[in-house]
Amino acid sequence: MFKSDLFQGKRFLVTGGGTGLGRVMMERFVELGADCVICGRRGSVLEETAREVMVKHPGRLVETHVVDIRVASAVEEMIDRIWANGPLDGLVNNAAGNFISQTKDLSPRAFDAIANIVLHGTFYTTNACGKRWIGEKRKASVISILTTWVWTGSPFVVPSAMSKAGVAVMTQSLAVEWGHHGIRLNAIAPGPFPTEGAWARLNPMKDDDAARYKARNPLGRVGRPSELANMAAFLMSDEVAYINGEVIAIDGGMGIMGNGTFSHMLSYSEDDWRRIREQIQTANTADRAKRG
Ligand code: HXC
Repeated sequence: MFKSDLFQGKRFLVTGGGTGLGRVMMERFVELGADCVICGRRGSVLEETAREVMVKHPGRLVETHVVDIRVASAVEEMIDRIWANGPLDGLVNNAAGNFISQTKDLSPRAFDAIANIVLHGTFYTTNACGKRWIGEKRKASVISILTTWVWTGSPFVVPSAMSKAGVAVMTQSLAVEWGHHGIRLNAIAPGPFPTEGAWARLNPMKDDDAARYKARNPLGRVGRPSELANMAAFLMSDEVAYINGEVIAIDGGMGIMGNGTFSHMLSYSEDDWRRIREQIQTANTADRAKRG
């Protein structure tokens, strides 16, 4: 699908790139010739990932930085250290925190635990990179990983939905403010992509995904990590440099399914549809008879 040297000479930072979807996106960038920087809170996890990816892709560099992106000064120091080894060409705001809870049970600290990562941390990282890119007149691409809740909201994940909606607006705002500097910002809004970290907090009852999404997703399944990685590589690439300020869903159409008045009829059988047609024809015939 992509040229194998698509990202030759490029260097990207993926926050939360040691595990889950962040790791998968980082690996796709590396496969396509990029060097990557990953950051997160657990040094040993980052180092193991970096080692494994570099063994798999000899000649490529994966650099690691331990950071808590909730701490603005720590983000600033990390970006300084990254730039000391060379500038970045792109950033993926992937690090996130989330758990399901009834909103009435959330303490202020619970709200902050999520908002400080998703809203504040994403802004700290984006702005720390952005001001360096602008200062150096360097072109760059930023991708933020959101969810389809940025359009619909979602019960039971209010701090995440609010924070990610804020990042969607940051994406649009900076796409305009920084576009003339050659910096473009886009976002991806994934539907369900099960990973260990997310599902421990979003599917604690261990509901069966195959059963859950068969009827609730037009494609009848959850997302595959490689599909998200391909979307990220596409958006990151200079080949689509005119895409700026977009939030693109990758959810099998699930986000728009709920809005369809008749979406529940997907489960109707051919027999059901035959009966429906007969009933409507009967009603039409009766109407015509009344009109004479
Ligand atoms: C109510 C809860 C709670 C729960 C924690 N709290 N869990 N309240 N219900 N289930 C409250 C605590 O009581 C505390 O408040 C406050 O939140 C902070 O809790 P800590 O455990 O001290 O927080 P912290 O150590 O900072 O941990 C942050 C975290 C953690 C977000 C809570 O889970 C984390 O670091 N997660 C990172 C990885 C992650 O979440 N990945 C999933 C991302 S999925 P009090 O007042 O009692 O002190 C995603 C979208 C996926 O983003 C979309 C799929 C469709």
